[in-house]
Amino acid sequence: MEDYYLGWLEQVENALNIWGYYKIDFKPRLIIITGMGGSGCVGDYVYALASTKERFRYPVLVIKSYELPKFVSNEDLVFVISYSGDTLETRYAYLETLRRKCRLVVITSNGFLERDAKQKNIPLILVTKGIAPRTALPEMLLAVLNVLDTSGLTIVSKSEVEDLREFFKENMANAYSEAVEIAEFIHNNKGVLVIATHTPLEVLAIRGKNEFNENSKIPVKIDVAPEWAHNDIVGWENPFINKYTVLEIADPDNPIGLKLIEFMDEIYMEKGYPVKRVLLKGEHFLQKLLYGSLVLGLASVKLARLLRIDPLETKNISKYKSRVYDILGQT
Ligand code: F6R
Repeated sequence: MEDYYLGWLEQVENALNIWGYYKIDFKPRLIIITGMGGSGCVGDYVYALASTKERFRYPVLVIKSYELPKFVSNEDLVFVISYSGDTLETRYAYLETLRRKCRLVVITSNGFLERDAKQKNIPLILVTKGIAPRTALPEMLLAVLNVLDTSGLTIVSKSEVEDLREFFKENMANAYSEAVEIAEFIHNNKGVLVIATHTPLEVLAIRGKNEFNENSKIPVKIDVAPEWAHNDIVGWENPFINKYTVLEIADPDNPIGLKLIEFMDEIYMEKGYPVKRVLLKGEHFLQKLLYGSLVLGLASVKLARLLRIDPLETKNISKYKSRVYDILGQT
């Protein structure tokens, strides 16, 4: 499993090899990204990158459901992402985008989506097969950014992805040792894990939560300031249980973010919770997001090893996937 994460540099190279090939001749009203779990997380990242990009004027909407909002129409560009190509919620959303005649791009490695997109001649990007969906994050994310850049809707340019490749080369070893320290910190303290951060890093906190859920098999709470200061902060006055371990994630180049994290730190310290802070490395937001994702992914695998469990297997997701046909019905 570690190898899948250490293969992220190769995923960036794969993405660069096909950069420029997929062009959509269309100026959309909305850019919509739909998918679930590890594939759905791609939408969060595109949203975060688009929201912080100067002069980018296209609203990005992330949908993690079997339904589309009623207002989605043929004026919109929809990226349908499912690593396996078979996730039922995503298949439902895909069929609905076809009914509404949206412009579509499918990103998958296999399954129903691959077959159907080929048959219907829908733009299709195939990513590396045979790894865990959650570990295919860079390739799936860069596939979306590739299409947008090639189509004149640039959020991230090819040269920024080339910089990312160099950044990964320089920082892989660093990320690995940081991950080992984090796993040991969480393992030694054994409280419910809280991932605390500031905007616009909430996507990273969600991703980190999912990684510790799926790889380490533990529940995780997320605290995101400043919203945290208007609700969660009160919950910390009187929790039912009092055993938490806090992992803070901050952008060292965001002065307001750092002050917010300092304040959060004060509240956790008052309760006596052990706290560890991760300062994201990287020059650009894309680098910071993917560096943080790599560290958290590796840390969750390392924690699984310390807990002597298999990071790869996700039994309860499989259980859900065998029941979801009864819940949602056949497509
Ligand atoms: C498994 C994982 C899951 C899946 C999710 C949706 O590694 O990350 O969260 O991503 O169950 O499946 P796919 O990605 O195949 O559509």
